[in-house]
Amino acid sequence: MAAGLMAATRPATTHHQHGTHPTLGETPAPSAAANSILVRACRREIVPHTPVWLMRQAGRYMPEYRAIRARQTMLEAIGDPETAAEITLQPVRALGVDAAIIFSDILPPLIGMGLELDFVAGTGPHIANPVRASRDVDMLGTPPAEQTMRGTLGAIRLVRDALPASTALIGFAGAPFTLACYAIEGASSQRYDLAKSFMYAEPAAWGRLMRRLVTVLADYLVAQARAGADVLQVFDSWAGALSPYDYMRYVQPYNAALYRTVMAAGVPVINFSTGTGAYIKDVAACGGDVLGIDWRTPLELVRSTLGDSYSIMGNLDPITLLAPWRELKGQIDAVLLRAGSKPGHIFNLGHGILPSTPVDNVRRLVDYVHEVTAAPSHA
Ligand code: CP3
Repeated sequence: MAAGLMAATRPATTHHQHGTHPTLGETPAPSAAANSILVRACRREIVPHTPVWLMRQAGRYMPEYRAIRARQTMLEAIGDPETAAEITLQPVRALGVDAAIIFSDILPPLIGMGLELDFVAGTGPHIANPVRASRDVDMLGTPPAEQTMRGTLGAIRLVRDALPASTALIGFAGAPFTLACYAIEGASSQRYDLAKSFMYAEPAAWGRLMRRLVTVLADYLVAQARAGADVLQVFDSWAGALSPYDYMRYVQPYNAALYRTVMAAGVPVINFSTGTGAYIKDVAACGGDVLGIDWRTPLELVRSTLGDSYSIMGNLDPITLLAPWRELKGQIDAVLLRAGSKPGHIFNLGHGILPSTPVDNVRRLVDYVHEVTAAPSHA
């Protein structure tokens, strides 16, 4: 399979960030793509064009992904470094995006903690032994990612070797709240009734669960940076299920602890959530260099709320990719206009790409964002 990977064009020197990791006491990760457009946009530097990538850019809308998944289950594909590397590179080849995101999912770290996760075709994730009582929390382990996530860490090494220095590789993990939702519900949910009821009824056990998740996720994210991820993203996809007050009480302190450790790894961190526009300031205060914004929140409002100290990522409605080009083009223009002309915008969807998306529309979107933002008139 390695022959199918892109030619390696590593830079002559790798860029070491300065400083030491507070817990590990070692030099932070080298980043092969420290000067890529994506990394520079994360750092709010002026770039030749707006970088673009798409959440869930590797997936069922691509025939080459479906061909692999016809032969291997989701967990097999994630656990095999060569397969995961190949799937990661598919959208980079097909679309010309500025970043690869490692092919995995937010849920596999739960397996290492002792939860029996499976992905059931047609229905999604399922956990056979979900957390339902205080004592279930005490059964959960916190083993290091080097033991439990070797497939993904191996895939990161393979992809980083295959990518040119101009293409950044994004590593990721779920945020503690979103993973606690899955650990308790045992499956996807509309309202997270079980997870929120547990949080209200068992606040001490909730704290223990969140602290264990922070331990596992921080270690996993730092390990991904060491393996070669140039940027890290934290997905708090379900944070918007909470009131602003509950977010502050039950989530914010744990997220803050997570970001404190992860940001010391020396690579930019993207803080993504959905449905949190009304309290985006509190979300941003948890940490991260870039705020990922869903399409329900106007980017100019985020800019005026947060000021110039964060980059922003987003926020095209994924369903606009199903629309005819004249509509899609207008929607892209609107996102770019609302993002404004200050440095620090990464073009993305406001959430993951849908399986029914035509590949041609995605390719056209990527080309158009590159073209229109590179033009001298886009000052
Ligand atoms: O962005 C990428 O391309 C990297 C890969 C990635 C996947 N999932 C692959 C995947 C990432 C970053 C995720 C994140 C993820 N997974 C989130 C957070 C982001 C979000 O979209 O909100 C969540 C909540 C999950 C949990 C999850 N994984 C669900 C609910 C499902 C089933 C629903 C679905 O879309 O099928 C998955 C499965 C999953 N994760 C698939 C992929 C490509 C589909 C698996 C298949 O091929 O059948």
